[in-house]
Amino acid sequence: MEKHARGSDIAIMANKIKISYNDVGRGSIPVLFIHGFPFNKSMWKSQVDFLKSSHRVIAYDIRGFGKSTNDATEVSIQLFADDLIKFMDVLQISKAVLCGLSMGGYIALNVVNRFPERVAGLVLCDTQCIEDSADGREKRYQTIRQVEAEGMNDFTQSFLKNIFHEDSLTNKKDIVKKIEDIILANPANVITGGLVALAERSETCSSLGSISAPTLILCGREDIITPLAQSEFMHKNIKKSSLQIIECAGHVSNLEQPDVFNKQLQIFLSTFSQ
Ligand code: MLT
Repeated sequence: MEKHARGSDIAIMANKIKISYNDVGRGSIPVLFIHGFPFNKSMWKSQVDFLKSSHRVIAYDIRGFGKSTNDATEVSIQLFADDLIKFMDVLQISKAVLCGLSMGGYIALNVVNRFPERVAGLVLCDTQCIEDSADGREKRYQTIRQVEAEGMNDFTQSFLKNIFHEDSLTNKKDIVKKIEDIILANPANVITGGLVALAERSETCSSLGSISAPTLILCGREDIITPLAQSEFMHKNIKKSSLQIIECAGHVSNLEQPDVFNKQLQIFLSTFSQ
């Protein structure tokens, strides 16, 4: 018997914070979606809708983002990963397929290194295992100063230009607008705290060789934030991995090319018995 509520936009306490999530569909191995920075669980709507008739699918808001709360003065990828494990504990999920995009992938890689027994499979989307270069880190701190001094508008506009493929910026304005609204709904301190977490994250490249979970790597061909070369590197170093390149997509391939993305996800998930 399930002890916890299931459904859309529900919340539960885990690691002393309120975690807002969707938990729908049925299946023995849940697929757990981890969003990128600075989005929220709604970025996975197309994937959740597509999979819910065949799988148990869970998408949650990371600490501070969306409707989840935060009680920490400083956040980190490690803390986000701890939250995820505590969230799985509360939901009594011993193992899940973790599907993370970008920052969500950083979190999934942190989890698989420290808690491999909790990971049945991995889907690493538009992400990478490297840490920030000194330059990259400095740019994040410049952005923090910019957001603190001027607010979110300039940050949001240049971020949108970087994450979407040119074709999406021109022809998929509804999706761009949706993401713009999601970004602007974040309080400035969630953005700045998130940027610190990204800047200070540790590399996970040196432990890719010890990942034994079957892994699907998805990357937009024109991703300029986490370029394809990073996905190719992970593919070379994770034993049971496959790489699928999503054409005509930038950094948010699940939003830009949902049909192709969902098909790849479905093929990968069909290798797990449900
Ligand atoms: C993300 O999409 O999660 C971030 O852009 C990742 C990053 O900036 O490293």
